[in-house]
Amino acid sequence: MGAFAAKPVAENVYWVGAVDWAVRDFHGYNTERGTTYNAYLIKAETITLIDTVKQGFRDEMFARISSICDPTEIDVIVSNHAEPDHSGELAETIRDIEPSVVYASKNGKKALQEYFGIGEQITPVEEGQTVDLGAMSLVFAETRMCHWPDSMVSYCPEAKLLFSQDAFGMHLASFERFADEIDAGVLHYEAAKYYANILMPLSHFVAKSLEKLGGLGLNTEIVAPDHGPIWRQDIEKVIHWYAGWANPKRTSSVIVVYDTMWQSTETMARAVSEGLGDAGAHPTVMALSGTHRSDVATKLLNAGGLVVGAPTLNNEIFPRVADTLTYVKGLRPTGLIGAAFGSFGWSGESVKKLSEFLDAMQVDVVQEPVTSRYAPNGDVFDQCFALGQTVGKRVVQAYG
Ligand code: FEO
Repeated sequence: MGAFAAKPVAENVYWVGAVDWAVRDFHGYNTERGTTYNAYLIKAETITLIDTVKQGFRDEMFARISSICDPTEIDVIVSNHAEPDHSGELAETIRDIEPSVVYASKNGKKALQEYFGIGEQITPVEEGQTVDLGAMSLVFAETRMCHWPDSMVSYCPEAKLLFSQDAFGMHLASFERFADEIDAGVLHYEAAKYYANILMPLSHFVAKSLEKLGGLGLNTEIVAPDHGPIWRQDIEKVIHWYAGWANPKRTSSVIVVYDTMWQSTETMARAVSEGLGDAGAHPTVMALSGTHRSDVATKLLNAGGLVVGAPTLNNEIFPRVADTLTYVKGLRPTGLIGAAFGSFGWSGESVKKLSEFLDAMQVDVVQEPVTSRYAPNGDVFDQCFALGQTVGKRVVQAYG
């Protein structure tokens, strides 16, 4: 066996993807545990490749395919999703393999044309269309906006296996290929982080797709996503997680997100957290000097409150706070209760701009901002404590 072998997933179905242990950024999301780009081979009479890999990982994919068959024996390629982490090597793979047909959704054909100029080589499939592979088959279902307009899933009834592309995946590099071989706490955290950073703003579409897939009466026993481990046990568990994240139940957790120049805003954040805890809420203080925006997003999946603090730097919000607020605003968390605070030297624009962000995020702002010129004194700390109490009480009332 060579260094890169295929891994069996079900009878005549193999994982032939790549493990990216090194990647630490996925369009702005900190992938601290790396990821995998999952491709799958169905060794039916018509040998079929489901998805490909990110650019740079084709050799690994081809080595794994070659451990099962000559890659040129592949007759069908299915592209469930056009994003470059799955289709970055599609054009070259088509060139090398010369399959008879490459299937994608109608939107997939357009996206693959606009990204890679290969639209003419794509055969669009209809919703619910079945393709006979000889003793095995695939049925296609569109899952638009989970994650892109082109997204679709492919179901193999004979293997009771759903190729779910981004859905039910996570950024987690591992040698183990199945979720039941991996620590349950790590799985839940990374699946939640993936949902928060990729799918949170698309929750309406996730809920629709879950409803649609539930209504198809599939007899799924294996869920094979395009990132992270494959689910062959407790698949209802990850479906239940998704249903919960799509309609989040907020909690009495409140995150205090801040950055600081000379520790004025930082000590204010600590006083705010004392007030939140005193009111019965559960504060987590996140210093952006050492916390990535994507970890803030993960906390916002279920937090009930967001309190944000920043000093004024050159008439603007301190940049790391502006960065994080820009990012989480785009993720559109709903139902948050919050407030703002910050220090300044002479102009003090930050709290006004923080308040504008909170308004744009439709955060229920329950108190005017607390500010401090230069270093906070006892009176400012009392105001910060009171702000924490006010937010904390409202969060406990709403979600406790
Ligand atoms: Fe893993 Fe939306 O690509």
